[in-house]
Amino acid sequence: MLRRTALHVTAIALCAPLLLAVSACRGTTETQGTATMDSGATSGPASDARRPLPALERSASFTDKQWLGKQLFFDSNLSRPPGQACMDCHAPEAGWADPNKNSPTSAGNTPGLFGNRNSPSVAYASFSPDFYYDAAKTSYVGGQFWDGRAKNVADQAKGPILNPLEMNEANQQSVIDAVKTGPYVDLFKKVWGANVFEETETAYEDLGASIAEYEKTSEVNSFSSKYDDVLRGAATLTDREKRGLDLFNGKARCSKCHTSAADPATGKVLFTDFSYDNAGVPKNPENKFYTLAAKYNPAGKDFVDLGLGGQLKKPSENGKFKVPSLRNVALTAPYMHNGYFTTIKDVVRFYNTRDVASAGWPAPEVAENVNKQDMGNLKLTDSEIEDVVAFLHTLTDTRFPRVK
Ligand code: HEC
Ligand code: HEC
Repeated sequence: MLRRTALHVTAIALCAPLLLAVSACRGTTETQGTATMDSGATSGPASDARRPLPALERSASFTDKQWLGKQLFFDSNLSRPPGQACMDCHAPEAGWADPNKNSPTSAGNTPGLFGNRNSPSVAYASFSPDFYYDAAKTSYVGGQFWDGRAKNVADQAKGPILNPLEMNEANQQSVIDAVKTGPYVDLFKKVWGANVFEETETAYEDLGASIAEYEKTSEVNSFSSKYDDVLRGAATLTDREKRGLDLFNGKARCSKCHTSAADPATGKVLFTDFSYDNAGVPKNPENKFYTLAAKYNPAGKDFVDLGLGGQLKKPSENGKFKVPSLRNVALTAPYMHNGYFTTIKDVVRFYNTRDVASAGWPAPEVAENVNKQDMGNLKLTDSEIEDVVAFLHTLTDTRFPRVK
């Protein structure tokens, strides 16, 4: 939640630039350098042959740019070798997150490589404001990724394609070459100009902007959950769900960060205020990133994810991650930046007793800046925990695009 935090100055800026350089699905500038450096060394034996796009539908409301963005989002030819699309880690039917529930982080296009963080949902991400520091609230707000390192979704979309732990393209030129052989090439020129491919850098920007336009459509952000029907007066919560909502807004304190009131900027109920907090999540020993070669993970099993603090190189932000929306949370397991929890119930149990010694939770991954004010000892009964979980199940959308 947005709150005043004491400034801790224990400096553990543990090789932040190196960690950043291998962070999954990175932001823009450093991306290209690292990916280029790594090119050639990691590609698997798979074939370079172009793969067909899945069968996609164009919604009647789409602009050309949104339709172009949709095709790019689902195109597995923007990876090297062809094989991984945005949708592979952000599948609609998985709440726009990774459909593989058995791994805390996502497998890259190159066999054996994994990112260091859990794939978040792409749905509702575009409502996050551009990353900024809110002086009145003394908190960073917005941006994309768990640590806010991309300013917005257009900026974000340029990262994963060139990330060696994700889509693994060699450089912007190779991506644009792949775009030029796509079935949407004429549409790309129609939207961005006949000469768009003359400047690789601008064409690459345009690609990111196209994907971002798709991510802003009502196809991705459908607001079609039971709870949306309740807000529209078209459905009612069961007694259990109603108790869960009251706890969410009251005793369980969830709405302090996962805001249930309409966002003043957009008028939408997003279940996040896009601020940053350290929830005290333990290290996840199952994170396959720990096993990667030193080239990708120099710290090996001692890797510590500093989140926003690592990104800003500010110890006062260490361990903080962006508050995720809880829309579609029933579909997006595992949970938290490192996929530590596999069920929503365990997340709520953790918030409930994290600071109760007899509960026996492992130490937080980053001990500084843990929020002890709004979580850790909520005194919820088992039945109340079930109530909160039942309410969270009302946030699952009912409309997802068909992809065959
Ligand atoms: C190999 C899996 C993988 C692929 C492929 C992938 N992503 Fe991601 N995506 C992730 C992970 C992991 C994160 C979080 C990384 C982080 O925070 O450091 C992420 C974060 C995001 C976010 C930020 C969401 C938020 O709430 O902060 C967006 C938006 C996104 N991805 C869109 C895309 C787009 C667009 C593509 C294709 C161009 C793509 N992703 C390809 C795994 C993937
Ligand atoms: C102080 C702010 C705060 C409060 C209060 C809070 N959360 Fe969170 N929540 C976060 C942050 C930050 C994360 C991400 C933490 C991380 O990944 O390390 C998170 C993550 C989650 C996730 C995982 C979502 C995902 O996609 O991985 C769930 C589920 C969740 N919270 C539910 C709740 C519930 C239910 C409550 C009330 C019992 C609650 N939260 C209270 C800040 C908060």
